[in-house]
Amino acid sequence: MPKEKDDLMEKIVSLCKRRGFVYQGSEIYGGLAGTYDYGPYGVELKNNIEDLWWRMFVRERRDMYGLDAAILMNEKIWEASGHTGAGFADPIVECEKCHHRFRADHLENKKKCPDCGGALGEERQFNLMFETKVGAEGAQKSYLRPETAQGMFVNFKNIIDSFHPRLPFGIAQIGKAFRNEIAPRDFIFRVRELEQMEVEYFVRPEAWEKSFEEWRSEVYRYTDAIGIPRSQIHELEVPDGERAHYSKRTIDFEFDFPFGRKELYGLAYRTDFDLSSHANASGQDLSYLDEEKKERLVPHVVEPSFGVDRTVLAILSSAYTEDELGGEPRTYLKFNKSVAPIKAAVFPLLKNKPELVKKARKVYESLKADSSKLKAIAWDDNGNIGKRYRRQDEIGTPACITIDFQTLEDDTVTLRNRDTGEQERVSVDSLASRIA
Ligand code: GAP
Repeated sequence: MPKEKDDLMEKIVSLCKRRGFVYQGSEIYGGLAGTYDYGPYGVELKNNIEDLWWRMFVRERRDMYGLDAAILMNEKIWEASGHTGAGFADPIVECEKCHHRFRADHLENKKKCPDCGGALGEERQFNLMFETKVGAEGAQKSYLRPETAQGMFVNFKNIIDSFHPRLPFGIAQIGKAFRNEIAPRDFIFRVRELEQMEVEYFVRPEAWEKSFEEWRSEVYRYTDAIGIPRSQIHELEVPDGERAHYSKRTIDFEFDFPFGRKELYGLAYRTDFDLSSHANASGQDLSYLDEEKKERLVPHVVEPSFGVDRTVLAILSSAYTEDELGGEPRTYLKFNKSVAPIKAAVFPLLKNKPELVKKARKVYESLKADSSKLKAIAWDDNGNIGKRYRRQDEIGTPACITIDFQTLEDDTVTLRNRDTGEQERVSVDSLASRIA
């Protein structure tokens, strides 16, 4: 990795820790590889990403059904879906000298250990699912789900029976998934506990290509809405032999991360693979009756899959900006307003002037009372104004509002723009609409 890109990643990781976005999981015990905890601003950012997704792909549509399925599922699901087999395993090699393990397909030299130079052993397949035992006696084997998708396939019949939807329609879910990655790396890019936002979109078999194209555009509509620049997204048509075992066509949406161009999202045509496999394995009828055509069929599936953690990282790395303002270097996160954890911060110019503090509190409380922005308005009276601006810039707050002596006379405040640093005087009455 070029030095400046390496530096950028280090800067992002350090800003995330310093400002309360992302912490190492289990940090005080030395960590647990591949796990991270989202701090106060990180969780707001993540919630904004998820809320917008849910709004665009569930609430604003007429053909989508939401779901929140259990993470623990009957082990037979994973046998039927092909996840217990070779389809969900990565090639692993172990060094005979230092016993470090590596993903064989990530190594340039498959004979020599990159850590100690020792000889690497035989390549074998390593299944990525976390196995667990259910019940007091631990009699029943189960797995932590490696994708949210299967929850939607095994509830297909429930949705049909309760809602009688007509094709095409989709089931959407946001939730945790777990993968025992051989080499978790690149901060929150490849983790062992991850979050996915997935749609299983059910179509007539002959309609899959049309639907595939529609979801392809929907991916960009979403990345535009959260502010990921199109110039940093690149499509990769995944060739035969490299697609997941269930897919007949896959496009990876890759993003220019600081450590290289890597998969951000996937769009797959899963055919009727999952529904037919579950119908065979469970003995249940998972077909759909097309009333108009008087025909029974097993729908085919188009699946856009969005990783939340990778979305957070793509947003952080495209928003991270260094510039000079007022002759001083500064760092700021140029978040799109839709995802910024804090939409506006309110400051009294001086913290030791009760009349300013009182007025600033009033402005703060009235903005906060607007329920849609409840958590997104911050109060800051620490240090001088310059320091407060820097702090808000670093967490990507688009607007800063300062209450000064003039406010007491004419009920106007200064509204400062994060990106330009420009300030204008606006009336207190207009603040709510300006911030919105
Ligand atoms: N249901 C389809 C599916 O799970 P995938 O390509 O294996 O397909 C979908 O994963 C998305 O989940 C990826 O595009 C990525 O955003 C995210 N993802 C997968 N593995 C991940 C990991 N170990 N860490 C973080 N995100 C991951």
